[in-house]
Amino acid sequence: MRNHWSGRLGFILAAVGSAVGLGNIWKFPFITGMNGGGAFVLVYLIAIAICGLPILMAEFVIGRHAQKDVVGSFRELTPKSIFWKGVGWLNLSAAFIILSYYGVVAGWTLDYLLKSVLGTFSGEEQKVIGSMFGGLVSDPVRQMICLTVFMGLCLLSVISGVQKGLERWNRVLMPTLFVILLFMAGYAMTTDGAKEGLKFMLYPDFSKLTVGGVLEAIGHSFFTLSLAMGAMITYASYMDKKESLWPVSTRIVFLDTFVAIIAGIAIFPIVFAVGMKPGAGPGLIFKTLPQVFATIPMGGFLAILFFILMAFAALSSAISLLEVLAAYMIDEKKMSRKKATSIMTILVYLAGIPSALSYSTLGKVTLLPGKPVLDSLDYIASNIMLPLGGMLIAIYAGYVLDRRITEAEITDEGRGYKFVFDVWYFVIRFVAPVAVLAVFLTKIGILKF
Ligand code: PFF
Repeated sequence: MRNHWSGRLGFILAAVGSAVGLGNIWKFPFITGMNGGGAFVLVYLIAIAICGLPILMAEFVIGRHAQKDVVGSFRELTPKSIFWKGVGWLNLSAAFIILSYYGVVAGWTLDYLLKSVLGTFSGEEQKVIGSMFGGLVSDPVRQMICLTVFMGLCLLSVISGVQKGLERWNRVLMPTLFVILLFMAGYAMTTDGAKEGLKFMLYPDFSKLTVGGVLEAIGHSFFTLSLAMGAMITYASYMDKKESLWPVSTRIVFLDTFVAIIAGIAIFPIVFAVGMKPGAGPGLIFKTLPQVFATIPMGGFLAILFFILMAFAALSSAISLLEVLAAYMIDEKKMSRKKATSIMTILVYLAGIPSALSYSTLGKVTLLPGKPVLDSLDYIASNIMLPLGGMLIAIYAGYVLDRRITEAEITDEGRGYKFVFDVWYFVIRFVAPVAVLAVFLTKIGILKF
């Protein structure tokens, strides 16, 4: 018998813990900034509705029905197919790659937490605060320490069984994160950049949107909901049969999207107020938010609170990725949980080192043209592996799995949600995979509009 979550709330908390993370607070604002703002946000919201939500439900169906890790789930449901087992592997590899650089960014959060505790931001000039980020990423020793501490925290949390404890913490920390983000968004509204920031984020100017931007929006809808990486399949394998998938999925999607939008509203007004460029890249929130903390009353305290919460959000997401990798070793290789988790953490840690040194020792190394290691890995995982994996999962749930299985899972064995199932079945067959494929083909120039 597999472990199960402690009821519906336990599952939702864990899944929200996985979904809400650096993707919402760090990545969403900076890619919105780099892709011109409002039009990108609109496409992202559409992608969440027509790809993210239905594929989240598909992963829940797969994981709960198979009751296995990600590779095992595909094998269990389609035993004869090497291809679909390969898709399980694609998911697993994406989890590995993402966790390797996720740890580096989470490490930046820890560094900023330390800076807040030491009061480094208070009363400091804008320019000085802005340059702290460059100082951090160009320091290889500091980068290595941050990565090591964060991966150590992940390992400790999982091994010592605090994971359950973490879920309980999530109950308090997630709502606190929402409140503090709302507060910061409220503060941002009072700054000089409010009008321009809101306009940038909410007014869709389609002339700024590229096909690459659309692909990025789709990829991010998967990243932010922890899809196509096995996380939701693995989590659903511990889910109780009694849960209805629709209410659980919509809550997760709503909360995740809400956090991202509020983070954007908290950040863009500040970007304009301090005269920065929205397209500043991965350092965007680290360069802007501390400017707020430096000037508002109680800023020192708020900074500490904010970075603690962000570190927790990162930790609960990273743990879910580690769980994907560990569950594979436990289910497929029959390893003990402790051993599986330790081995995987060490491997991911080693793989994370080049990303940690992306902007210092390996500053001149580019995997993709013009992109340092960390940016290249993020591009490969988010813009290629995730859309591809998501599309294949949609095809799997829509065409390969027996309709009786998907229907029984979504309608609670025929007891309700029939209409939801009908709409979902249409979208997962004809909308989600076609949308992703069309964007892919346009991006590589086969389709032209
Ligand atoms: N969804 C997380 C975020 O938005 O930060 C990142 C993530 C967690 C991706 C877990 C994948 C995953 F399996």
